[in-house]
Amino acid sequence: MTDVLTADATGIARGAAILRAGGLVAFGTETVYGLGGDATNARAVAAIFAAKGRPHFNPLICHYTNADAAFRHVEANGHARVLAEALWPGPLTLVLPRRADCPVALLTGAGLDTLAVRVPAHPVAQALIAAVGRPIAAPSANRSGQVSPTTAAHVLDGLEGRIDAVIDSGPCPVGVESTVLALTGPRPVLLRPGGATVEAIEALVGPIDRCAPHGVEQSNKGLPSPGMLLSHYAPTLPVRLDVRSVGAEEALLAFGPALTGAGATFDLSLAGDLTEAAARLFEGLWDLDARGQALGLRGIAVMPVPEAGLGLAINDRVRRAAAPRVAGS
Ligand code: TXA
Ligand code: MG
Repeated sequence: MTDVLTADATGIARGAAILRAGGLVAFGTETVYGLGGDATNARAVAAIFAAKGRPHFNPLICHYTNADAAFRHVEANGHARVLAEALWPGPLTLVLPRRADCPVALLTGAGLDTLAVRVPAHPVAQALIAAVGRPIAAPSANRSGQVSPTTAAHVLDGLEGRIDAVIDSGPCPVGVESTVLALTGPRPVLLRPGGATVEAIEALVGPIDRCAPHGVEQSNKGLPSPGMLLSHYAPTLPVRLDVRSVGAEEALLAFGPALTGAGATFDLSLAGDLTEAAARLFEGLWDLDARGQALGLRGIAVMPVPEAGLGLAINDRVRRAAAPRVAGS
């Protein structure tokens, strides 16, 4: 049984008690729901991988209440301090070298000598981490390879009975995961586009390198970010991109005024607003996958989204949803 907790003092105290005892609690962040466990407790972290059915090579993000707490566990550099000052709390994750005395379980970082750290802006996430008094390891609260959840109902859809509780924190305002940036070399490297835009980051630290998503034909060994595996956000129905026309046997994920003729339609943003579209993206994929299957449709067709600002993160996620499926991604 998975308890649904309210996002008030009682629910947060209960969630924190479960986490301190090594249990698993999903909670809202500004990006997507996280599947939280005590990052310093390797058994709890292992339980996260098990609940998600996640391959162990894929490291988790550690969540903190503020930059000072995060930088006690990793070696911050100049770029890290500038970015943290400007963009934390917020949808940015920094990959930095672990400190020698870092108490975070090695399994959290999948054995790497780096650790991904993030300070979420959501009040429920902030209150929960503060109440636990330890960093919380939290991947997105979905079964591995499935669409990331932006409501408590989505979390339950994938993880009911597999986790102790979910704190119903309402819909996630940003709606796509955090931007993951590696700060371990001379130049920052974008490992995953997300809620913090490349434009905002480059305005603070100058040009950053892009790390192209890895094709499924490549081995998982040596990936700079194992989560870059291409097929990762997979609805059950096949996904077709950049559609200019749509048939009655398809479900349509629209951006701007919708094409006509689809068997089912979800409009990410009628006004063509990228922030609104990002916030509704996973909800749209979930909705069309469910309705499309119920109606016997044969796939999800996605209208083009501009490759700028949050459009990078949106296109990254729909490209992965459309990529050939690989077992265990
Ligand atoms: O918005 C988010 O980031 C959400 C919320 C819950 O905070 N979390 C999230 O976690 O999306 P997850 O586990 O689904 O994605 C973490 C990403 C993966 O692509 C992983 O490979 C990468 O971060 N990552 C984590 N630690 C890393 C490390 N040490 N080096 C390189 N990449 C790392
Ligand atoms: Mg994920």
